[in-house]
Amino acid sequence: MRNGFVSLVGAGPGNADLLTLGALKVLQQAQALLYDALVSEDIIALAPQRCVKICVGKRGDRLSVSQDKTNELMVRLARKGLHVVRLKGGDPSMFGRVEEERQYLDRHGVPHKTLAGVTAASAAAAQFEFPLTHRGEARAVTFLTGRTKEGSIDLDDARVSDTETSLVFYMSSHNARHIEARLREAGRPAATPVVLIENAGRQHARAVATRLDRLAAEVETAAWDGPVLIAVGDAFAYARTASVATAVAALR
Ligand SMILES: C[S@@+](CC[C@H](N)C(=O)[O-])C[C@H]1O[C@@H](n2cnc3c(N)ncnc32)[C@H](O)[C@@H]1O
Repeated sequence: MRNGFVSLVGAGPGNADLLTLGALKVLQQAQALLYDALVSEDIIALAPQRCVKICVGKRGDRLSVSQDKTNELMVRLARKGLHVVRLKGGDPSMFGRVEEERQYLDRHGVPHKTLAGVTAASAAAAQFEFPLTHRGEARAVTFLTGRTKEGSIDLDDARVSDTETSLVFYMSSHNARHIEARLREAGRPAATPVVLIENAGRQHARAVATRLDRLAAEVETAAWDGPVLIAVGDAFAYARTASVATAVAALR
């Protein structure tokens, strides 16, 4: 085995301007690139032309390359002596299976390092100008997914009932009806502000403001095309959805 190396890198959720400088440097040195489906093309284009580029991404339930295959590819390419960049959407530590990948690399004796990225919720908060926490109104924020490994959904009432906690759901638009029902059962008021954000961090991002008792209806009628976050809590009443839509339109 030659001395290869794997960098597990967060690409951010959208345009290249959300990459960290560290991620950019590593990407420019990549000899093999394994990237997620959600990584944008302008970011992939930053890797050297001669670098091997393989999409190992998943979109929703559609698997292009299994996790086992991705793990094997990382090790195989590193054992050729290459600097492998495993480029992941958003931040690798947020619903990114990064620990599974690190453990696999450790078991196979492949050295690695992890570089942080901007998670989708942070990009959405900046783009649509809402806070995730807000003094006196939102004391905490919880990032969660309704989905379990088996594809079922399970929400713990105690965790979601605190009205001073902002909730941001990843990978959950298919489960909107269940989320709405469970949050109402847990005591969240019907009028709790909700913002649905699609393609955060990208120029064609869209944010729809609604309220908890209309969450499922809104998700089901909105014809989403890209990845979606569901943000629930009082802090999201501050979202500037209309003004940003206007500002983006003016750039076109
Ligand atoms: C497998 S998770 C990966 C999250 C990623 N590691 C992060 O930190 O943003 C994929 C989910 O993240 C959310 N997501 C990722 N990119 C997004 C974006 N640009 N806009 C809105 N949601 C996004 C969606 O809920 C999507 O189903």
